[in-house]
Amino acid sequence: MAPIVDIHTHVYPPKYMELLRSRTTVPYVREFPDAPDSSRLIILPGEDDPSMPSTSRGRPIGSEYFDIKQKIAFMDQHKIDKSVISLANPWLDFLPAEEAGQKAVEINNDVNEQCELYPGRLYFFGTLPLSSDTDTIVKEIERLSTLKRARGVILGTSGLGSGLDDPKLDPVYAALQKHNQLIFLHPHYGLPTSVYGPRASEYGHVLPLAMGFPLETTIAVTRMLLSGVWDRFTGLNVLLAHSGGTLPFLAGRIESCILHDGHLKAHGKTEKRRDIWEILKTNIYLDAVVYSTVGLNAAIEASGADRLLFGTDHPFFPPLEADAMEWHSVNANYTAISKSFSGEDEKAQGVLGGNAVRILKLED
Ligand code: URA
Ligand code: ZN
Repeated sequence: MAPIVDIHTHVYPPKYMELLRSRTTVPYVREFPDAPDSSRLIILPGEDDPSMPSTSRGRPIGSEYFDIKQKIAFMDQHKIDKSVISLANPWLDFLPAEEAGQKAVEINNDVNEQCELYPGRLYFFGTLPLSSDTDTIVKEIERLSTLKRARGVILGTSGLGSGLDDPKLDPVYAALQKHNQLIFLHPHYGLPTSVYGPRASEYGHVLPLAMGFPLETTIAVTRMLLSGVWDRFTGLNVLLAHSGGTLPFLAGRIESCILHDGHLKAHGKTEKRRDIWEILKTNIYLDAVVYSTVGLNAAIEASGADRLLFGTDHPFFPPLEADAMEWHSVNANYTAISKSFSGEDEKAQGVLGGNAVRILKLED
């Protein structure tokens, strides 16, 4: 039997917690006077709105966000053999350029050390100092490729500040391709808060997390495609969070809009291009963090069962009942996999872990 591998699971390692606790603007961690015993993690755009009561700003943050023993306990409880941990959003995107390079080194070393405490059980996606210059970023990619437990990098959608279709990212993509490092592409910024409307604060985090995150991912990947990233870097591999946002569902429409666009045709951009279906099947991997068979089946059809990887998004989406033992969010993903692959045990085992072991070389 293949091991069960969680490739979408986050930590805020000690060095990053220090950073969050030292800050007073988003992102930060602090205690509020009306809830003195619980720290709150304030990370998403708009979560800091003074009109919101402090007890509903952000989310409570306990040791499950930074104590690696709790990650292992969670893995044991949910029968997860190996995890590829990644720094959670918003990574180092907000740091001044002159601080980012050194912080990336410290945090990546911190996470590598945490992985070393559990040989064979923990690996990680590193973090890049994206606010720094490309030489510093490339240097960290090269350094990461020498760290024993590193298996790629986690990246938000902002790139160097103007998105992942920025040609200035080419040296970064070139280094990632050269060192065979997978990009784990993960959302953070969502959509402009105006689209959530004037009653958004009545709806908790549902709109930014259920809509903003997946659409942000979909737009970021589509911009990469339109700018020809995968025509220039045919060996660049990207693992998309949340089963690609809405990419599998919208791929046909994206392709059709490209083929019917007069501007693209006039500029010769509809010829000699790799189409979205080819890229979905050769450069893109999708996680299976989509909570239902409907989304999962779209992901299977778009990229193939051998490119789909189980994940949990731990420590986000914990059960809300204080006495719950198992996480409903995790079980929803397990159930969707078992239903979608009913009678196809080999494929299910691939998604649960075999694919991750093969793609990320997790044998040791
Ligand atoms: N919320 C976040 O901010 N990040 C995640 O990864 C999941 C939920
Ligand atoms: Zn996540």
